[in-house]
Amino acid sequence: MFLVTGATGGIGRRVVRSLRERGMPVRAFVRLLSRYSELEHRGAEIFIGDLQVDRDIQKACQGVQYIVSAHGSDGNAFALDYHANIELIDRAKEQKVQHFVFISVLGADRGYEDAPVFKAKRAVEKYLQASGINYTILRPAGLASNLLPLAERFRQTGLYLLVGDGKNRTSIVSTDDLAQIIVNSFMLPEARNRTFSVGGGEILQRQDVPHILGRIFNIEPIIINPPLLAVDGFRTVTGLFNPSLQKALGTFRTLLDNEFFCTREEITQLEEIYHLKMENLESFLRRYLAI
Ligand SMILES: NC(=O)c1ccc[n+]([C@@H]2O[C@H](COP(=O)([O-])OP(=O)(O)OC[C@H]3O[C@@H](n4cnc5c(N)ncnc54)[C@H](OP(=O)(O)O)[C@@H]3O)[C@@H](O)[C@H]2O)c1
Repeated sequence: MFLVTGATGGIGRRVVRSLRERGMPVRAFVRLLSRYSELEHRGAEIFIGDLQVDRDIQKACQGVQYIVSAHGSDGNAFALDYHANIELIDRAKEQKVQHFVFISVLGADRGYEDAPVFKAKRAVEKYLQASGINYTILRPAGLASNLLPLAERFRQTGLYLLVGDGKNRTSIVSTDDLAQIIVNSFMLPEARNRTFSVGGGEILQRQDVPHILGRIFNIEPIIINPPLLAVDGFRTVTGLFNPSLQKALGTFRTLLDNEFFCTREEITQLEEIYHLKMENLESFLRRYLAI
């Protein structure tokens, strides 16, 4: 039995689909109010719970041999990115789980002090590596599926908001390729007890994205490019009445202020180990936008 956390998220739902297409038994950890009917139709066992409740994690892990941790946090990095994963690893150990795939983030090992999600991911990576459980840690760059709602807005308005330095490099990864990599991590001995950076088939500058969208929709993009100082100002004001949101925004600022791309060598290694060709962003968007 595979347990997938974040099963309704961008990555998690694709992992559930892929496992079910291969006929694997899957338990999807979902919240009561999530949109999980697609997972149920695909034959996943639905486990309703909250990853902030240790007892739910303990129950969800019963009888499981494989775990994919693919949940996100929306602000509460300590409870979800850190504590829920530590709890999952501890329960996995009790259950003698055979393999644990953890979705980290590109740059988790760079020591960003002001980014709670990065710090939590790094602490979990170390805990998992020391746990004695077989693992694969995947550190993706930005996910292409995040851009789909933005693309729809762009189609209607031609506007694209690009905060900070547009020249920063990124290797946005096809969320479908990432899901395949996750699932194959359980099958391939070369993926066992390894940590991989995961990026798309090309290195882009952030400012390339509106031009790709412009090409797809045949629209000249109108790029609105506020400086990073705008985020800093917003954080300062937020801190006056919501200090925890101010801290959470540190992760967002870190993402905007730094480069997150994989080297050509890293992509080649990934393609060789996982026997696939990483898709580029334009191809991913055209597939989903049917253009
Ligand atoms: N998005 C990116 O660009 C990116 C890049 C690098 C790494 N990552 C990492 O990849 C992972 C997945 O990202 P994603 O973009 O696929 O996530 P996502 O679409 O934001 O989905 C987050 C998932 O976590 C679930 N979740 C949140 N709080 C929960 C709770 N208290 N109990 C149970 N489930 C809860 C959500 O359930 P609901 O449906 O109920 O909200 C949802 O299924 C995350 O760990 C993220 O840090 C993402």
